[in-house]
Amino acid sequence: MNRNNFRMAVLRGLSRERKRIPCKYLYDAEGVALFEEICRLDEYYLTRSEVGLLERHAEDVARLAGSGRRVIEFGGCSSRKARMLLDALDQPLAYVPVDIARQPLTESAKRFAESRPELPVTPVCADYLAELDLPNEPAAPALGFFPGSTIGNLSPRLAVNFLARCATLLGPRSLMLVGVDVKKDERLLTAAYNDRRGLSAAFNLNILARINRELDGDFDLSAFEHSARWDARQSRVEIEVVSRAGQRVRAAGQRFTLGRREPIHTEYSYKYGDAEFHWLARQAGWNPVATFGDGMFSLHVLDHTTRH
Ligand code: AVI
Repeated sequence: MNRNNFRMAVLRGLSRERKRIPCKYLYDAEGVALFEEICRLDEYYLTRSEVGLLERHAEDVARLAGSGRRVIEFGGCSSRKARMLLDALDQPLAYVPVDIARQPLTESAKRFAESRPELPVTPVCADYLAELDLPNEPAAPALGFFPGSTIGNLSPRLAVNFLARCATLLGPRSLMLVGVDVKKDERLLTAAYNDRRGLSAAFNLNILARINRELDGDFDLSAFEHSARWDARQSRVEIEVVSRAGQRVRAAGQRFTLGRREPIHTEYSYKYGDAEFHWLARQAGWNPVATFGDGMFSLHVLDHTTRH
């Protein structure tokens, strides 16, 4: 990822009245490694639930998909879930993982290609929220795969825009399989983002460490704390790093002042009931054709050929 984009985002975000840094910058190599550890935590039920749903329903998805699809995975740094999907699909023609984090993407795509030598694997290092070009070979209908409830890290408006762009990008007769975290007991939600081992905190604070590493910052990480709160009205977990005291910091050649308890917003994680997500998908031109859930998480199959 272009360091200048990160620099501009940090300078812009820290100059705002309500400071913020876009969540995509959480995922440098350290962030990706920390997030993978989070996915193995007891408290972080999302991965466990989604993998369980894929174990039970990948065959159902495969039936809906038919044979000869290319699979495009948005955020394809850990191909474990894509592997489950591709193993169930009848004669998949290509696997195209798309991710912003070059090194983890390349390594995981290489491992995947070694284990499935018959399947063409073409990693695309790009920000899938910006303009994106996909390889146009093979000319086969696509199955877009957006697992992990990463859709929840977009505002509902951006989620609609993203899904609408996917419809254009994936082309005629495409399907999408989207993993979505559902609303649930507040204690479970808060525990998932405030685990006892402190990995969620380390993942969040890594964004300041990244500024120190890449943009000559002087953030003292011990002068900040991680905060993740459930906002029931907005149906989202709101994630911030909070300055413990008034302080001045340097980043990308500029100085910024933070007040005592002033937050820097880093991420939202929206949660959706099935009907809410179906509404959102329809706004983007997709028709929900199947939903598989376990009360904790849901997998939605969307189709944009059958929409009237
Ligand atoms: C990637 N994404 C779906 C995670 C989530 O649950 O919103 C990111 C995350 N942030 C803190 N913990 C996990």
